[in-house]
Amino acid sequence: MNAGIRPLAATGSTDDVAARLGDPAALLTDVELGRAQRLRSSSDRSDFMAAHGLVRLVAGQLLGCGPDDLTVVQRCARCGGPHGQPYIAEQPALQVSWSHTRGYVAAIAGFVPVAVDVEHPPPVTVDGALLRLVLSPSEQSVVAAAPDPSRAFARQWVRKESLVKLGMATLDTMATTELDGLAVDSSWLAIGGHRRLTWRGWYLVEWSDAASATVGTAMAAIPTSLIRIGATSPDRLVAIGQLPT
Ligand SMILES: CC(C)(COP(=O)(O)OP(=O)(O)OC[C@H]1O[C@@H](n2cnc3c(N)ncnc32)[C@H](O)[C@@H]1OP(=O)(O)O)[C@@H](O)C(=O)NCCC(=O)NCCS
Repeated sequence: MNAGIRPLAATGSTDDVAARLGDPAALLTDVELGRAQRLRSSSDRSDFMAAHGLVRLVAGQLLGCGPDDLTVVQRCARCGGPHGQPYIAEQPALQVSWSHTRGYVAAIAGFVPVAVDVEHPPPVTVDGALLRLVLSPSEQSVVAAAPDPSRAFARQWVRKESLVKLGMATLDTMATTELDGLAVDSSWLAIGGHRRLTWRGWYLVEWSDAASATVGTAMAAIPTSLIRIGATSPDRLVAIGQLPT
């Protein structure tokens, strides 16, 4: 029955999300805090903690509880370490994902397969190794012809990393997983809009954030609500759902 409940994603700058959470570190387990402390850069630590806090906020919203009621667990399928695909100990049927990049985070929760990814557009050259690693030859052509190849590459990259998180691709198969029919960013999206797309039965909500110059994609088996968290403005809601104040 829960499978019909719309997944909820939220995204925002690390600072805005941390302000919304109050004290992200207070929500994290000792295992998560240990991982955060091992990060060398304080900004990486902040991104990590904001993302791990934000996933509790969206998961709690779907479960009808507070973020501090939830325990995030990660156990790597390869090495058994406390990283990799996450779940919520109190409700393992709820699927969760998050992403952190410099100064910006996103998270998603749903009772269906879900994934989210955010990135800063990296410098790319049209014949570069990064392009060949991530994109098929036809996708490389689309990116090379885009008005902003770096942003176009980032758009394809967040989609492919979402597919990796969904278990539908690996780092080795990214380039052979063809995102047929999915356009890269139009100019209005590049300045901070959002849009909805479908691809092979998957539902995507995509956005860009002008202030942080990041792009993001949330992917799920059914349509997703997206909340954009802002510190100085009310949360901007795409579709349904509301975060608690
Ligand atoms: C999944 C992956 C693409 C995300 O990388 P990224 O874009 O650099 O980082 P993001 O911030 O967007 O996402 C990181 C989150 O993805 C999630 N994640 C990591 N591995 C995952 C996996 N196999 N499946 C689903 N989600 C995963 C975690 O929640 C992680 O958060 P954390 O770093 O705070 O623990 C990358 O971690 C990867 O390719 N992993 C596969 C390699 C692997 O299995 N390594 C095992 C080493 S023992």
